Amino acid sequence: MSRSFRVAPGGSLSGTFRVPGDKSISHRSVMLGAIADGVTEITGFLEGADAISTMQIFRALGVRIDGPQAGRVTVHGVGLHGLRAPAGPLDCGNAGTAMRLLMGLLAGQRFESTLVGDESLSARPMRRVAEPLAAMGARIETRDGCPPVRILPVEALRGIRYPLPMASAQVKSALLLAGLYARGETTVIEPAPTRDHTERMLGGFGVAVRREGAAVTLRGGQSLRATGIDVPADISSAAFFLVGATIAAGSDLLLQHVGMNPTRTGVLAILRLMGADIEVRNEREAGGEPVADLRVRAAALRGIAVPPELVPLAIDEFPALFVAAACARGRTVVSGAAELRVKESDRIAVMAEGLRALGIDATPTPDGMVIEGRGEQAAVFAPGAVYAHADHRIAMSFAMAALRAEGELAVHDAANVATSFPAFEALARSAGLRIESQA
Ligand code: S3P
Repeated sequence: MSRSFRVAPGGSLSGTFRVPGDKSISHRSVMLGAIADGVTEITGFLEGADAISTMQIFRALGVRIDGPQAGRVTVHGVGLHGLRAPAGPLDCGNAGTAMRLLMGLLAGQRFESTLVGDESLSARPMRRVAEPLAAMGARIETRDGCPPVRILPVEALRGIRYPLPMASAQVKSALLLAGLYARGETTVIEPAPTRDHTERMLGGFGVAVRREGAAVTLRGGQSLRATGIDVPADISSAAFFLVGATIAAGSDLLLQHVGMNPTRTGVLAILRLMGADIEVRNEREAGGEPVADLRVRAAALRGIAVPPELVPLAIDEFPALFVAAACARGRTVVSGAAELRVKESDRIAVMAEGLRALGIDATPTPDGMVIEGRGEQAAVFAPGAVYAHADHRIAMSFAMAALRAEGELAVHDAANVATSFPAFEALARSAGLRIESQA
């Protein structure tokens, strides 16, 4: 299925609303609920294609799951050893998180399973998970390091101590989930902090997880106790609106109940360093995760060298941040972000290509980009067409660019917006973006 956005130039963003539930937390809520003892009630669940893929997979593994209905999902946990052999391949769709975390979870099962994905996912690296899992005793086959992934049955895994070669929450989480099925302790050491939703949520399910500096440890064989999970709004989805409201004169938005986990708020720190006006209100806790309301108003941005320590904390927000950088005065330099090349698309190449098509001086580097901002101009982007290469975040980022364009922007290959933010177009339109789409 193909879909294009047509976005008329100009306008501003205003209003008060809540963007959909956090994708990372939604995936994990179903996974942990499924292997818990008892019934887990989830609210605020992301009804996007990625999280739905995870739900369908657990149904195929014999778990009863009711919903989603208005963000409510009920997972009837089967316990640590209660999953059943699936009848066929498990389809992760576009969802890298589903595939990598499931590799860990399924590696310790006594049945065989095969994970498949769409064209984009089928080109993404899985060795980063398969290799440490093999060191734990798992038997995993890939096609040259990519999906499909075949996981053969094993009696038991053994715990390892593994320094992650890259800052990846997916690899960390996969190993911790495998660690539940391993003898002894599993320790993962991070080169830089990455999102810690798995560790937090395991704690919420009653699993003892130890954090010592950069090391996270759990002991195998611990059972999970069902719990309630309130999924906050996804800061990664909020990011498009944070950038849109910042770059469009006259904007004033209030985004409610946004997840503020410190391993995810790099986008706020980077936008603020650039001069954004974002106020954090009503900070509170929901289901083991910090949340807040974010008020964002238009502001003049300046180019910066993005501090490398913020990169993993904002890794999914760079498509939107590149658009912000184009609207800043002066040069923005992003480095230490080579991981962007192995996301839903090569986000360095695809964003640079799109920005250049819209008249921006953007130079891709092996691990980032250099962007010469045009913030002194009212209209920053030339009219034109860009291709999202089936990457949801790229499509939504370029849609926001129209707020500062000289003429209409066409964003092609945008259907995958449904993976993380099915209501994006309607919500963005109601906030003031002049967006239409066509199939
Ligand atoms: C995610 C981790 C990140 C992120 C992805 C979601 C997660 O991936 O980009 O969108 O839920 O654990 P990496 O682990 O590859 O950095």
